[in-house]
Amino acid sequence: MNLARKKSIAEMMAQAGGKTLPRTLGAFDLFMMGIGVIIGTGIFVMTGVAAAKFAGPGIMLSFAIAAVACAFICLTYSELAAALPAAGSSYAYSYTAAGEFVAWLVGWNLILEYTVGASAVAAGWSAYFTGILKSGGIELPHALTAVPHDGGIVNLPAVLIIAFLTLLLVLGVRESMRLSRILVFIKLGAIFLFLLLATPQVNPQNWVPFLPFGMDGVKTAAGIIFLAYIGFDSLATAAEETKNPQRNMPIGIISSLVACTVLYMAVSAVLTGVAPYTELNNAEPVTYALRKIGYNFGSAIVGVGAIAGLTTVCLVLIYAQTRAFFAMARDGLIPEGLCKVHPKFGTPHIATILVGTMIALISGFTPIGLVAEMCSIGTLFAFIVTSACVLILRKTHPDLKRPFRCPAAWVVAPLAIISSLFIMYYLPGATWIRFVVWSVLGAVIYLAYGARHSKLAAADAVAGLRSRDCHRRRRIHPLMRLRSDGT
Ligand code: ALA
Repeated sequence: MNLARKKSIAEMMAQAGGKTLPRTLGAFDLFMMGIGVIIGTGIFVMTGVAAAKFAGPGIMLSFAIAAVACAFICLTYSELAAALPAAGSSYAYSYTAAGEFVAWLVGWNLILEYTVGASAVAAGWSAYFTGILKSGGIELPHALTAVPHDGGIVNLPAVLIIAFLTLLLVLGVRESMRLSRILVFIKLGAIFLFLLLATPQVNPQNWVPFLPFGMDGVKTAAGIIFLAYIGFDSLATAAEETKNPQRNMPIGIISSLVACTVLYMAVSAVLTGVAPYTELNNAEPVTYALRKIGYNFGSAIVGVGAIAGLTTVCLVLIYAQTRAFFAMARDGLIPEGLCKVHPKFGTPHIATILVGTMIALISGFTPIGLVAEMCSIGTLFAFIVTSACVLILRKTHPDLKRPFRCPAAWVVAPLAIISSLFIMYYLPGATWIRFVVWSVLGAVIYLAYGARHSKLAAADAVAGLRSRDCHRRRRIHPLMRLRSDGT
């Protein structure tokens, strides 16, 4: 069994259909897309949880630390996204650069990024939804809005929003994405309204002590809120459709990252300034803070905006997971039925329904903190491998056409790896244990199924048989000739 078998770049591009998409996106389009996919649970939910449990007001620094790692990762990611525009992103790059087993592990961890990430977003969505209803005097029963860990039975609003978005994605991607674009503006409006209403009410006393859990708490929180930056990788996959990607890609990615970081730091500063950090351990801290300072109506409006924002992120994450599964199923590493496309809607409906069901189950029954930590660690792993792949491919394929080249790759890629490892290192021990168990489980599934059904393995086996056959024939021929010579 050859775990390191690699897919050639030619094979990968042939699978992707060798299609060229029209280059229509400019730096501003990328910037808006970035804001659309990045801002979500990280700011609307995790800020409160991470401030209350790990960083206190120092949560602002956690956002800055995570942003630095993201900047390096973005640059390396953009190089591969521009050079190898294929479905499956980091899974596909690793298959070419590092071999099948590593690619499988990356694909397996993308489940943590997309499926588990979407579950965290759905849980946040549910919290804001129930919060708004509460502001309007409608209180849903706790049993139906909380997971068993928090004394409930099921988080039903989370399950229902996922069911709705799954249906939208089965019916058609373009329509879903159009809806998403409108929601981006509403989301930005909500953030600015929060800042406008809450900033004058900041009480600097709430920032004291600034680091109640020390710098270690700030670093742990950086891992937990890392989820807030997830999404820029889907931005990098638009490289093929970008005008002058060498210039626009880094401008689009870095500017959206800078804008998100500024917004994140501003929101977390104001949030911890209007409410003591100890009170923020709830899944809708932004609206909670507004209610606390007496803006009930403003809180409801911001809540609606947050719901809009969380919906867009959820949609993109479900979409990204279905495409990653699609790529893995096409390679035979997971059952092929998953890449069937619906004859009428043209969407991978089986993969979409499977992903929707998984997300609904996780968000319906698992606490959001645990889900977010798993999402961060799995994503960081995938990003580390992707950054390493940039260097491997620079060595093995120096002539590959790279519409965007990561500047100073031999410095930036190692920095991306080191900063990701740094953030991972400070995640809680229990998260590491779960991550190791998850990876071992992935390896077992690969050996039991993927390695046996891999299309590449089958192609290699056929090629091997052919070459053995040729070899044998070459050996037999002289003998036959000898016999025909009568000897
Ligand atoms: N970055 C996305 C969010 O914060 C996943 O919800």
